[in-house]
Amino acid sequence: MFKRFRRLRENSTLRDLVQEAKVAKNDLVYPLFAVSGKGKNFKREIASMPGVFQLSIDELVKEAKAARAIGVKAIMLFGIPETKDSAGSDALSDRGVIAESLKALKDAVPEMFIFTDLCFCEYTDHGHCGVINPATKSVDNDKTLELLAKQALIHAECGADAIAPSGMMDGAIAVLREALDDAGRENTPLMSYSTKFASAYYGPFRDAAESAPSFGDRRAYQMNPANAREALAESMEDEAQGADILMVKPALAYLDVVKTIRENTTLPLAVYNVSGEYSMLKAAAAAGMIDYDRALMETMTSFKRAGADIIITYHAKEVCELLNKGD
Ligand code: PBG
Ligand code: ZN
Repeated sequence: MFKRFRRLRENSTLRDLVQEAKVAKNDLVYPLFAVSGKGKNFKREIASMPGVFQLSIDELVKEAKAARAIGVKAIMLFGIPETKDSAGSDALSDRGVIAESLKALKDAVPEMFIFTDLCFCEYTDHGHCGVINPATKSVDNDKTLELLAKQALIHAECGADAIAPSGMMDGAIAVLREALDDAGRENTPLMSYSTKFASAYYGPFRDAAESAPSFGDRRAYQMNPANAREALAESMEDEAQGADILMVKPALAYLDVVKTIRENTTLPLAVYNVSGEYSMLKAAAAAGMIDYDRALMETMTSFKRAGADIIITYHAKEVCELLNKGD
Protein backbone atom coordinates (compact mmCIF):
# COMPACT_ATOMS: atom_id res chain seq x y z
CA MET A 1 0.00 0.00 0.00
CA PHE A 2 1.22 3.48 -0.81
CA LYS A 3 -0.41 6.85 -1.30
CA ARG A 4 -0.96 8.05 -4.91
CA PHE A 5 -0.11 11.77 -4.76
CA ARG A 6 -0.30 11.89 -8.54
CA ARG A 7 -4.10 11.41 -8.36
CA LEU A 8 -4.50 15.14 -7.60
CA ARG A 9 -1.96 16.24 -10.21
CA GLU A 10 -3.45 14.76 -13.36
CA ASN A 11 -6.16 17.35 -14.09
CA SER A 12 -5.30 21.04 -14.30
CA THR A 13 -8.59 22.26 -12.78
CA LEU A 14 -8.12 19.91 -9.88
CA ARG A 15 -4.51 21.05 -9.51
CA ASP A 16 -5.79 24.62 -9.22
CA LEU A 17 -8.48 23.58 -6.72
CA VAL A 18 -5.95 22.04 -4.38
CA GLN A 19 -3.32 24.75 -4.78
CA GLU A 20 -2.28 26.10 -1.38
CA ALA A 21 -0.40 29.39 -1.76
CA LYS A 22 -1.81 31.92 -4.24
CA VAL A 23 -0.63 35.30 -5.44
CA ALA A 24 -3.28 37.97 -6.04
CA LYS A 25 -3.15 41.47 -7.45
CA ASN A 26 -4.33 42.68 -4.03
CA ASP A 27 -1.07 41.46 -2.47
CA LEU A 28 1.19 43.77 -4.45
CA VAL A 29 2.92 47.05 -3.68
CA TYR A 30 4.84 48.72 -6.52
CA PRO A 31 7.88 50.90 -5.58
CA LEU A 32 8.35 54.10 -7.59
CA PHE A 33 11.18 56.66 -7.69
CA ALA A 34 10.25 60.34 -7.96
CA VAL A 35 12.88 62.95 -8.87
CA SER A 36 12.64 66.70 -8.60
CA GLY A 37 14.45 69.45 -10.44
CA LYS A 38 14.62 67.71 -13.84
CA GLY A 39 11.67 69.45 -15.47
CA LYS A 40 8.82 67.60 -17.10
CA ASN A 41 8.93 64.34 -19.07
CA PHE A 42 12.03 63.12 -17.31
CA LYS A 43 12.17 59.33 -17.39
CA ARG A 44 15.56 57.70 -16.92
CA GLU A 45 15.97 53.93 -16.78
CA ILE A 46 18.20 52.62 -13.98
CA ALA A 47 21.12 50.88 -15.67
CA SER A 48 21.18 48.04 -13.13
CA MET A 49 17.36 47.68 -13.05
CA PRO A 50 15.95 47.32 -16.56
CA GLY A 51 12.30 48.39 -16.60
CA VAL A 52 12.63 50.62 -13.52
CA PHE A 53 12.86 54.41 -13.92
CA GLN A 54 13.58 57.63 -12.12
CA LEU A 55 10.50 59.72 -12.88
CA SER A 56 9.71 63.42 -12.79
CA ILE A 57 6.46 64.06 -10.98
CA ASP A 58 4.35 64.28 -14.16
CA GLU A 59 5.81 60.94 -15.31
CA LEU A 60 5.26 59.47 -11.84
CA VAL A 61 1.57 60.31 -12.13
CA LYS A 62 1.43 58.68 -15.58
CA GLU A 63 3.12 55.55 -14.27
CA ALA A 64 0.79 55.33 -11.27
CA LYS A 65 -2.22 55.64 -13.60
CA ALA A 66 -0.86 52.97 -15.95
CA ALA A 67 -0.19 50.64 -13.04
CA ARG A 68 -3.65 51.23 -11.57
CA ALA A 69 -5.24 50.47 -14.92
CA ILE A 70 -3.81 46.94 -14.94
CA GLY A 71 -4.63 46.23 -11.30
CA VAL A 72 -1.81 47.58 -9.11
CA LYS A 73 -3.62 49.15 -6.17
CA ALA A 74 -0.74 50.28 -3.96
CA ILE A 75 2.62 51.95 -4.46
CA MET A 76 5.66 52.64 -2.28
CA LEU A 77 7.09 56.07 -2.91
CA PHE A 78 10.81 56.98 -2.84
CA GLY A 79 12.15 60.46 -3.51
CA ILE A 80 15.36 61.76 -5.05
CA PRO A 81 15.65 65.47 -4.26
CA GLU A 82 17.27 68.11 -6.41
CA THR A 83 19.77 68.91 -3.66
CA LYS A 84 21.07 66.82 -0.81
CA ASP A 85 22.63 68.19 2.38
CA SER A 86 23.90 66.90 5.71
CA ALA A 87 20.47 67.13 7.38
CA GLY A 88 18.34 65.87 4.47
CA SER A 89 16.33 69.13 4.40
CA ASP A 90 14.30 68.26 1.30
CA ALA A 91 12.60 65.53 3.35
CA LEU A 92 11.60 68.12 5.97
CA SER A 93 10.03 70.58 3.57
CA ASP A 94 6.41 70.61 2.47
CA ARG A 95 7.74 71.57 -0.98
CA GLY A 96 10.15 68.62 -1.10
CA VAL A 97 10.06 65.87 -3.70
CA ILE A 98 7.85 63.50 -1.68
CA ALA A 99 5.53 66.27 -0.54
CA GLU A 100 5.00 67.42 -4.13
CA SER A 101 4.70 63.86 -5.43
CA LEU A 102 2.03 63.02 -2.87
CA LYS A 103 -0.01 66.11 -3.72
CA ALA A 104 0.18 65.39 -7.46
CA LEU A 105 -0.69 61.71 -7.05
CA LYS A 106 -3.60 62.32 -4.69
CA ASP A 107 -4.94 64.88 -7.11
CA ALA A 108 -4.65 62.73 -10.25
CA VAL A 109 -4.98 59.13 -9.00
CA PRO A 110 -6.79 59.40 -5.66
CA GLU A 111 -7.71 55.72 -5.61
CA MET A 112 -4.05 54.62 -5.56
CA PHE A 113 -2.99 53.63 -2.03
CA ILE A 114 0.34 55.27 -1.21
CA PHE A 115 2.95 54.02 1.24
CA THR A 116 5.85 56.42 1.73
CA ASP A 117 9.31 55.12 2.56
CA LEU A 118 10.44 57.12 5.58
CA CYS A 119 14.22 57.50 5.77
CA PHE A 120 16.99 60.04 5.24
CA CYS A 121 19.50 58.21 3.03
CA GLU A 122 18.01 59.55 -0.21
CA TYR A 123 18.14 63.13 1.10
CA THR A 124 21.49 63.38 2.88
CA ASP A 125 24.73 64.21 1.07
CA HIS A 126 26.53 61.47 3.05
CA GLY A 127 23.89 58.86 2.13
CA HIS A 128 23.33 57.56 5.66
CA CYS A 129 19.87 56.97 7.09
CA GLY A 130 19.95 59.77 9.68
CA VAL A 131 22.04 62.58 11.15
CA ILE A 132 25.70 61.83 11.67
CA ASN A 133 27.24 62.38 15.08
CA PRO A 134 30.57 64.03 14.19
CA ALA A 135 32.35 62.49 17.18
CA THR A 136 31.45 58.88 16.43
CA LYS A 137 30.91 59.23 12.63
CA SER A 138 27.85 57.09 13.21
CA VAL A 139 24.14 57.84 12.83
CA ASP A 140 22.77 59.52 15.97
CA ASN A 141 19.73 57.40 16.81
CA ASP A 142 17.73 59.73 19.01
CA LYS A 143 18.35 62.93 17.03
CA THR A 144 17.25 61.04 13.92
CA LEU A 145 14.01 60.02 15.67
CA GLU A 146 13.02 63.68 16.09
CA LEU A 147 13.59 64.33 12.40
CA LEU A 148 11.75 61.18 11.36
CA ALA A 149 8.71 62.39 13.28
CA LYS A 150 8.81 65.70 11.36
CA GLN A 151 9.20 63.92 8.05
CA ALA A 152 6.29 61.58 8.87
CA LEU A 153 3.94 64.47 9.62
CA ILE A 154 4.76 66.02 6.24
CA HIS A 155 3.97 62.72 4.54
CA ALA A 156 0.68 62.42 6.38
CA GLU A 157 -0.33 66.02 5.67
CA CYS A 158 0.49 65.70 1.98
CA GLY A 159 -1.61 62.59 1.52
CA ALA A 160 0.35 59.45 2.42
CA ASP A 161 -2.08 56.63 3.17
CA ALA A 162 0.48 54.73 5.25
CA ILE A 163 4.06 55.34 6.34
CA ALA A 164 6.90 52.84 6.16
CA PRO A 165 9.94 53.71 8.29
CA SER A 166 12.97 51.96 6.80
CA GLY A 167 15.94 53.42 8.66
CA MET A 168 16.29 50.80 11.43
CA MET A 169 16.48 53.42 14.19
CA ASP A 170 15.64 52.02 17.63
CA GLY A 171 12.39 53.37 19.03
CA ALA A 172 11.17 54.73 15.69
CA ILE A 173 7.77 53.08 15.79
CA ALA A 174 6.92 54.36 19.28
CA VAL A 175 8.05 57.90 18.44
CA LEU A 176 6.23 57.97 15.10
CA ARG A 177 3.03 56.52 16.52
CA GLU A 178 2.97 59.18 19.21
CA ALA A 179 3.75 62.00 16.78
CA LEU A 180 1.03 60.90 14.37
CA ASP A 181 -1.52 60.45 17.16
CA ASP A 182 -0.73 63.87 18.61
CA ALA A 183 -1.31 65.40 15.20
CA GLY A 184 -4.72 63.73 14.92
CA ARG A 185 -3.40 61.10 12.53
CA GLU A 186 -4.31 58.12 14.67
CA ASN A 187 -5.67 56.32 11.60
CA THR A 188 -2.45 56.53 9.57
CA PRO A 189 -0.93 53.02 9.63
CA LEU A 190 2.75 52.29 10.17
CA MET A 191 4.29 49.51 8.14
CA SER A 192 7.65 48.96 9.82
CA TYR A 193 10.70 47.69 7.95
CA SER A 194 10.97 45.73 11.18
CA THR A 195 13.48 43.10 10.11
CA LYS A 196 15.86 44.69 7.64
CA PHE A 197 19.21 43.12 6.97
CA ALA A 198 22.44 44.85 5.88
CA SER A 199 22.26 43.26 2.45
CA ALA A 200 24.29 43.30 -0.73
CA TYR A 201 20.98 42.88 -2.57
CA TYR A 202 20.25 46.62 -2.16
CA GLY A 203 23.02 47.49 -4.62
CA PRO A 204 20.85 48.40 -7.64
CA PHE A 205 18.44 50.41 -5.45
CA ARG A 206 21.26 52.66 -4.42
CA ASP A 207 21.84 53.47 -8.12
CA ALA A 208 18.12 54.19 -8.49
CA ALA A 209 17.88 56.37 -5.37
CA GLU A 210 21.44 57.73 -5.60
CA SER A 211 21.74 56.82 -1.94
CA ALA A 212 24.94 54.80 -1.55
CA PRO A 213 26.71 55.91 1.66
CA SER A 214 29.70 58.15 0.91
CA PHE A 215 31.69 56.54 3.74
CA GLY A 216 31.31 53.32 5.72
CA ASP A 217 28.27 51.09 5.38
CA ARG A 218 24.95 50.51 7.13
CA ARG A 219 26.03 47.68 9.40
CA ALA A 220 25.81 49.86 12.51
CA TYR A 221 22.03 50.03 12.10
CA GLN A 222 20.84 47.30 9.72
CA MET A 223 20.86 43.68 10.90
CA ASN A 224 23.51 41.03 10.46
CA PRO A 225 22.21 38.57 7.80
CA ALA A 226 23.32 35.67 10.02
CA ASN A 227 20.92 36.48 12.88
CA ALA A 228 17.53 34.77 12.94
CA ARG A 229 16.74 35.14 16.65
CA GLU A 230 17.51 38.84 16.55
CA ALA A 231 15.33 39.12 13.43
CA LEU A 232 12.36 37.80 15.39
CA ALA A 233 13.13 39.95 18.44
CA GLU A 234 13.26 43.17 16.44
CA SER A 235 9.97 42.52 14.66
CA MET A 236 8.32 41.64 17.99
CA GLU A 237 9.67 44.87 19.49
CA ASP A 238 8.15 46.87 16.63
CA GLU A 239 4.85 45.13 17.21
CA ALA A 240 5.04 46.09 20.89
CA GLN A 241 5.78 49.71 19.93
CA GLY A 242 2.64 49.83 17.80
CA ALA A 243 3.53 48.77 14.26
CA ASP A 244 0.48 47.82 12.20
CA ILE A 245 2.32 45.76 9.58
CA LEU A 246 5.71 44.05 9.90
CA MET A 247 8.22 43.41 7.13
CA VAL A 248 11.15 41.19 6.22
CA LYS A 249 13.68 42.60 3.78
CA PRO A 250 15.22 41.27 1.55
CA ALA A 251 12.82 38.43 0.78
CA LEU A 252 14.37 35.52 -1.11
CA ALA A 253 17.39 34.74 1.04
CA TYR A 254 15.30 35.18 4.21
CA LEU A 255 12.20 33.01 3.78
CA ASP A 256 13.06 31.12 6.97
CA VAL A 257 12.79 34.43 8.82
CA VAL A 258 9.46 35.18 7.14
CA LYS A 259 8.10 31.85 8.34
CA THR A 260 9.32 32.33 11.90
CA ILE A 261 7.85 35.81 12.19
CA ARG A 262 4.59 34.61 10.63
CA GLU A 263 4.33 31.97 13.36
CA ASN A 264 4.94 34.52 16.11
CA THR A 265 2.60 37.38 15.27
CA THR A 266 -0.99 37.96 14.27
CA LEU A 267 -0.04 41.17 12.43
CA PRO A 268 0.00 41.33 8.64
CA LEU A 269 3.46 40.61 7.26
CA ALA A 270 5.12 42.09 4.18
CA VAL A 271 8.19 40.98 2.27
CA TYR A 272 10.31 43.35 0.22
CA ASN A 273 11.49 41.61 -2.95
CA VAL A 274 14.43 43.99 -3.30
CA SER A 275 16.31 45.52 -6.19
CA GLY A 276 19.08 42.89 -6.37
CA GLU A 277 16.52 40.10 -6.49
CA TYR A 278 14.74 41.89 -9.32
CA SER A 279 17.95 42.50 -11.25
CA MET A 280 19.10 38.90 -10.94
CA LEU A 281 15.92 37.59 -12.58
CA LYS A 282 16.14 40.22 -15.31
CA ALA A 283 19.78 39.37 -15.97
CA ALA A 284 19.11 35.63 -16.12
CA ALA A 285 16.24 36.22 -18.54
CA ALA A 286 18.30 38.57 -20.72
CA ALA A 287 21.00 35.91 -20.92
CA GLY A 288 18.40 33.36 -22.04
CA MET A 289 19.07 31.27 -18.95
CA ILE A 290 15.59 31.10 -17.50
CA ASP A 291 11.88 31.13 -18.38
CA TYR A 292 11.23 34.59 -16.94
CA ASP A 293 7.45 34.47 -16.49
CA ARG A 294 7.49 31.09 -14.76
CA ALA A 295 10.46 31.94 -12.53
CA LEU A 296 8.76 35.21 -11.61
CA MET A 297 5.49 33.59 -10.53
CA GLU A 298 7.36 30.81 -8.72
CA THR A 299 9.27 33.46 -6.78
CA MET A 300 6.08 35.38 -5.88
CA THR A 301 4.37 32.16 -4.81
CA SER A 302 7.29 31.30 -2.53
CA PHE A 303 6.67 34.51 -0.57
CA LYS A 304 3.04 33.58 0.00
CA ARG A 305 3.97 30.00 0.90
CA ALA A 306 6.41 31.29 3.52
CA GLY A 307 3.61 33.34 5.08
CA ALA A 308 3.77 36.84 3.60
CA ASP A 309 0.54 38.77 3.11
CA ILE A 310 2.01 41.70 1.18
CA ILE A 311 4.66 41.61 -1.55
CA ILE A 312 6.56 44.81 -2.29
CA THR A 313 8.06 44.25 -5.72
CA TYR A 314 9.36 46.05 -8.81
CA HIS A 315 7.67 43.21 -10.74
CA ALA A 316 4.19 44.33 -9.61
CA LYS A 317 2.99 45.41 -13.06
CA GLU A 318 4.37 42.28 -14.72
CA VAL A 319 2.72 40.09 -12.10
CA CYS A 320 -0.62 41.82 -12.67
CA GLU A 321 -0.28 41.32 -16.41
CA LEU A 322 0.41 37.61 -15.95
CA LEU A 323 -2.51 37.25 -13.52
CA ASN A 324 -4.80 39.14 -15.92
CA LYS A 325 -3.80 36.75 -18.73
CA GLY A 326 -4.42 33.74 -16.49
CA ASP A 327 -8.15 34.25 -15.80
C1 PBG B 1 16.19 53.17 2.47
C2 PBG B 1 15.80 51.96 1.70
C3 PBG B 1 16.63 51.04 1.02
C4 PBG B 1 15.79 50.13 0.39
C5 PBG B 1 14.48 50.48 0.73
N1 PBG B 1 14.51 51.59 1.56
C6 PBG B 1 18.09 51.03 0.80
C7 PBG B 1 19.05 50.77 1.85
O1 PBG B 1 18.70 50.48 3.00
O2 PBG B 1 20.21 50.90 1.51
C8 PBG B 1 16.24 49.00 -0.49
C9 PBG B 1 15.28 48.56 -1.52
C10 PBG B 1 15.82 47.71 -2.60
O3 PBG B 1 16.98 47.28 -2.63
O4 PBG B 1 15.02 47.43 -3.50
N2 PBG B 1 16.63 52.95 3.75
ZN1 ZN C 1 17.83 54.74 4.62
